[in-house]
Amino acid sequence: MSAHLAYSPLPRFGFEVNIDLSAPLGSADQEELRRRFASDGLLVFRGLRLSMQEQCDLCRIFGPVIDSPYENFYVSNVRKDGHLGALELQWHNDVPYLPRPYLAAALHAIEVAPGASSTRFASGLRGYERLPRALRERITGLNALQVKQRFSQRANRLTDLQPGDLCTVHAVVRQQEQTGRPYLFVNQNMTAGIIGLSPSESDELLAELFSWLYLEEDVYEHSWRPGDLVLWDNLAVQHARGRVSTDARTLQRVTITELGYAQQYAADLGIRVAYGNEKLISSAA
Ligand SMILES: [Fe+2]
Repeated sequence: MSAHLAYSPLPRFGFEVNIDLSAPLGSADQEELRRRFASDGLLVFRGLRLSMQEQCDLCRIFGPVIDSPYENFYVSNVRKDGHLGALELQWHNDVPYLPRPYLAAALHAIEVAPGASSTRFASGLRGYERLPRALRERITGLNALQVKQRFSQRANRLTDLQPGDLCTVHAVVRQQEQTGRPYLFVNQNMTAGIIGLSPSESDELLAELFSWLYLEEDVYEHSWRPGDLVLWDNLAVQHARGRVSTDARTLQRVTITELGYAQQYAADLGIRVAYGNEKLISSAA
């Protein structure tokens, strides 16, 4: 047992981690953190007080973090530079429409009023395990079209895309890189359809997959307290939230990814206008 780390299972899946960051973590502790993270794709830390830089350093235990304002930012309904405001967010992986979607993400509660909206997590690993055998066989080898998120509170379709918007085809079932375990990679918000099926067949199949993937009794709902940090595998685990109330809610967000958004989606003029071309390119390099 490490002097710096203790683990306990969360109610549905994943682990709560009691961590002592007063001294640097040794390589055995870091390895165990990575192993726990790979097993369920969800870790919850409590009582931290990390600057953006310190959060980046913690996340680097799990994978590459680039110094980019598009990848690392504030999710907030009160900060001027905050993102997402009060929007409801349907179930999704972040940026599944990129060729290399983000590997993982971490949200750290800086300011959350009691009762501020929770974040919900569903496991694509467990979703796949629950599928009846015939359904698993049916989706073997199928691919789905992931499209840019133009709407957060309803499913995005091919017809919602605007000129220049990116979309990418990914396998419906992918394998977790560290363990080889299969997981479902279709989501409620940005999977426009399954390739090779008619629109109605595709909608029907997606609805059936979602009924297993988002099974209510296996959803982990995180009620935020100041100092919480939730780290999730953005490929194997999906997240969602209801509409945010007027209670203050500021979460510091860090992304683990090999490639930045700007590197993969150079044609997205929107982020270049908002963030500045040079900063995005130089920081993502
Ligand atoms: Fe998200």
